[in-house]
Amino acid sequence: MQQVYDKYNRIIDYMRISVTDRCNLRCIYCMPSEGIRHVHFKNVLTYEEIIRIVKIAARLGVRKIRLTGGEPLFRRDLHILIESMNKIPGIEDIGITTNGLLLKKYAQVLAKSGLKRVNVSLDSLQTNRYREITRGGDVRQVFEGIHAAEKAGLLPIKINMIPIRGINDDEIEDFAMLTKYSSYHVRFIEFMPIAPHKLWAANKYVPAQEIRERAASIAPIMPVSIRRLGPARYYRYENAPGVLGFISPISHHFCSSCNRLRMTCDGRLRPCLFSETEVDVKSAIRSGIADSEIESLLKHSVEIKPRSHSLSSETDFDHLKPMARIGG
Ligand code: GTP
Ligand code: 5AD
Ligand code: SF4
Repeated sequence: MQQVYDKYNRIIDYMRISVTDRCNLRCIYCMPSEGIRHVHFKNVLTYEEIIRIVKIAARLGVRKIRLTGGEPLFRRDLHILIESMNKIPGIEDIGITTNGLLLKKYAQVLAKSGLKRVNVSLDSLQTNRYREITRGGDVRQVFEGIHAAEKAGLLPIKINMIPIRGINDDEIEDFAMLTKYSSYHVRFIEFMPIAPHKLWAANKYVPAQEIRERAASIAPIMPVSIRRLGPARYYRYENAPGVLGFISPISHHFCSSCNRLRMTCDGRLRPCLFSETEVDVKSAIRSGIADSEIESLLKHSVEIKPRSHSLSSETDFDHLKPMARIGG
């Protein structure tokens, strides 16, 4: 089976596809309260267009797809896209990253359509604080969504929490404790300076090492090796069913093992989360190009993947697109 390598000898086998830049929340670290200017719906890739691109990507060696947003479940009939994607030869794993609000409604149908697993963004376990961070969300719906996903067999459930100093970092220990009594993978993500930058400040970012030390202050933690390591490093408490993950894009970037390509909802291939260099595959498709030319665009975006990002040394982030456009 074909495999595609970039200039730095990294195998690119994972594609993150943002299916919409719309969301039913307005998390303070992701969007301004008024929301962002959305891509016009005519410019959003149709399911047929996405499938055409994924078929070609799969021929090149992409095995794993993650659907993101905005909120991916906000896009109508997502299960239909997943069902078609699941039939593409070579695609082995389809996941979504969601805020979980709509999971209760869709978990069963998503699992039936071939979805393998869900990553749920959850930044507070407290009702009032969750409402403040998300500007209106109801955390009970997320818990219900997570339970529905477990029942539907969408395992393992990964919970993504971004500790922000002075906002929710006092909950690090509570989140860590979840892994002692459940099989969740609780992953702490370093706060990244992506729009809206008004909230980001160096003193609000909590380095992964500090988060790990705080988790370890409850009880000793030991490293676990999990097959197919992504950006997270995993640990667990003794005899605990769940695991703790630490994702450190800032303090210790994992660019040297990056296996990803991203595609925005308006069909721009984005070789790196932190680079504004994009390849416009949508315009090309709509001008009627052949599959072989789409293949060349995909190969080109792999070729121009940078070696790494330089976020920790940058101070000006205004050129970066909002996270909801890129899908994390
Ligand atoms: P799986 O390993 O398939 O479960 O997915 P994942 O952990 O890559 O996906 P998820 O969407 O849950 O991402 C978790 C966090 O890692 C998000 O905050 C992402 O923005 C961040 N992340 C994922 N991929 C990259 C990457 O290539 N670069 C950087 N800097 N951050 C990333
Ligand atoms: N820093 C770190 N993670 C972020 N996410 C969104 N914005 C940021 C940020 N500024 C996370 C979400 C979600 C994933 C797709 O990206 O919480 O889990
Ligand atoms: Fe929506 Fe996720 Fe952004 Fe929150 S972080 S506003 S859930 S896209």
